[in-house]
Amino acid sequence: MGSIQPIDKASVHRIASGQVIVDLPSAVKEIVENSIDAGATSIEVRFKDYGVKSIEVVDNGTGISPKDYNALGLKHCTSKLSRYEDLSTIGSFGFRGEALSSLCAVCDSVVITTATSAEAPIGTTLELERDGTLRSSEVKIARQRGTTVTASGLFVPLPVRRAELTRNVKREFAKALNLLHSYALLPCVVENDGIRLSVSNQSEGGKKVVQFRTSGSPDLNSGVSSLWGPKCLTELVPVNLNFIIEPEKSLLKQTDNKEIEVSVNGLISKFSHGSGRATSDRQFFYINNRPTNSPKVQKVFNEVYHSFNINQYPFVLANISLPTNSYDVNVSPDKRTIFLHRESTLLTSIKVLIHEMISYSDPEPCPH
Ligand SMILES: Nc1ncnc2c1ncn2[C@@H]1O[C@H](COP(=O)(O)OP(=O)(O)O)[C@@H](O)[C@H]1O
Ligand SMILES: [Mg+2]
Repeated sequence: MGSIQPIDKASVHRIASGQVIVDLPSAVKEIVENSIDAGATSIEVRFKDYGVKSIEVVDNGTGISPKDYNALGLKHCTSKLSRYEDLSTIGSFGFRGEALSSLCAVCDSVVITTATSAEAPIGTTLELERDGTLRSSEVKIARQRGTTVTASGLFVPLPVRRAELTRNVKREFAKALNLLHSYALLPCVVENDGIRLSVSNQSEGGKKVVQFRTSGSPDLNSGVSSLWGPKCLTELVPVNLNFIIEPEKSLLKQTDNKEIEVSVNGLISKFSHGSGRATSDRQFFYINNRPTNSPKVQKVFNEVYHSFNINQYPFVLANISLPTNSYDVNVSPDKRTIFLHRESTLLTSIKVLIHEMISYSDPEPCPH
């Protein structure tokens, strides 16, 4: 071991970027979230070779204005957040300003074409370097308003991960599709007319195959049926829970110790045997409309469900709405983990209420 020295900038960038873009799903997620943040109403995701060759996302959002070209791929450069305090009220998916810079660091190449409404029907091609700086912005092309991000050769600069990706490509692709399902259902979760999402894959030498396509309708049932067919709806029931988490008695004097109003809305499988699924493959959780990994919330749903239908897992879609100051999204660089204040009380309340809801509709829990 030598003396303590700073790691060179390029290496630091590579180390940190690998935490933002951890796999194929997170790469796709970041690009799609940028399209949603840009107000797109139509988003097309095109995989080549299941994402091993390239991922391309075409949107009809605001486009990127020429004054932002230089900062676009630079770390911690964002149009969405300027002060730490804004984080508690942030409405956009992005705020860390590091997705594009990380994407540049972990891909063989990142090329963007974009046009704002003032520029359309002429757009600009932006080529970014691995360190996120702008290589060129001279080439003009025909383009309607919006942005296309093409990321090729994911993980080529990180050979171990590249090998991992090519070895597990089908599984990674399935995970990416699953994640995209949660974004496809977003218009139904936020109940606004929406974002049409279409996803396709083209394998080497093969034809382009559409994986799924949504209409952007805000109706949850039609969203679900556009992804998995209308038949699956017959096995689902709505979830609508509302409750209050009381202030903690021992901390009554603390100013942030207020009651928290929570609602949980969505769909869950019916509880009778045969209505659930063999695996937990269709479980989607959102916190204030942001798709998240919530292992503990997921566990609560599965546990309660298992007490009625022991051999199966439910389809679950649940959006948990709560005040923005009662959780923290800035926990992991991929923003999939959320830290909830008073989590255990929240989980217990959900557990009790789901249990009640099930007992009400199906009075005979199984004996286990
Ligand atoms: N599809 C897009 N349409 C419009 N602007 C985009 C798009 N993708 C990225 N941008 C711009 O690039 C900036 C950097 O994106 P990103 O690195 O993901 O950081 P963040 O989303 O946290 O701001 C964004 O703040 C946004 O201004
Ligand atoms: Mg972003």
